[in-house]
Amino acid sequence: MLARPKPFLVTLEAGRTYFWCACGRSASQPFCDGSHQGSGITPRKLVAQRTEEALLCGCKQTCSAPFCDGSHTNLPGGSPLDDPESAANRLIPRVTEQDGPRRWLDGGCYVVAPALAPKACRGRLRYCHLVTPELGARFQTQLLLEVEGGPSPFLSLGGCDAILFVAAGSGHAIISGRDFALQPHDGVYVRPGEALQLLPAGQDTLRVFALASPYGALEWPDAMPRNFAAELPERVVSVDAQQRTAMGPRYFQILVDKRIGSSVITQFIGHIPRSKAAPHRHLYEETLIVLAGAGCIWTEERKARVQAGEAIFLPRKQLHSLEATSPEGMLVVGVICPGDNPSIAYYE
Ligand code: FES
Repeated sequence: MLARPKPFLVTLEAGRTYFWCACGRSASQPFCDGSHQGSGITPRKLVAQRTEEALLCGCKQTCSAPFCDGSHTNLPGGSPLDDPESAANRLIPRVTEQDGPRRWLDGGCYVVAPALAPKACRGRLRYCHLVTPELGARFQTQLLLEVEGGPSPFLSLGGCDAILFVAAGSGHAIISGRDFALQPHDGVYVRPGEALQLLPAGQDTLRVFALASPYGALEWPDAMPRNFAAELPERVVSVDAQQRTAMGPRYFQILVDKRIGSSVITQFIGHIPRSKAAPHRHLYEETLIVLAGAGCIWTEERKARVQAGEAIFLPRKQLHSLEATSPEGMLVVGVICPGDNPSIAYYE
């Protein structure tokens, strides 16, 4: 029985034992109060390994009991929407002031326009930083890399996990000596300590968003190291409509995640139909890059337009809501860290 079509945010204390209500009858959700007697359903025991916040399933449909796995998003009421024209929403002002390439919203959330960011050059590579620890990120550094006319210099991202997304162009990525063909919208995983070289095809400009977790200062090795982690041979994941996961009216496809070695960061590509999600929060930090369409990002007391090519940085637990305003909706690529499931949100 469904208690409610969304998870419960709880703080679990290290060493404590909990009993999660599996039947949905408990009046002490999400924990058991004995109401399952006679139902044939028993509660799930959980011993907390560490003190941490967690989202426990309220819909009782999860496949990862007692934790929410996003199953509620496809239940009635599980993907709530909001009316952007409601009386309360009409009072929320639109941010138009630019701070360089950024427009700041509440709580350290911002929209960044790479087209307005000054670029540094090294050989055939142009690059700029979009999301950095100095600008509030705790788990990531995001850069835009652009290469044309020949190979980039060798580079590495400071001994961090790195995830790339090919925004435009095709070509190759050489990862510590191993060659991978790239096409638009591929996701790519680079192990800590491995180096990278980007080679655009023909006259293409290879445009790549690169995320390093956690800090990822750019380094320029003189030579390509031969330290490719051969135990993880799959490094490129392409878009495949068969791999989509429905999330209410939205869908997403996981690109890079633990299946190919990335245990802390998860990358996904997703579509949002013309609509505004109800305001919600995540326990992970998130960056979304708009690939197509336009919309508006809302926080508590501000909102800002966002269009194709721009990125949105969302600190952990920041209240927000993304509205797609284009008739065709929005296509976005996102990274969440730490996390492995972009469909898990809470509404408290
Ligand atoms: S609340 Fe049940 S899966 Fe999320």
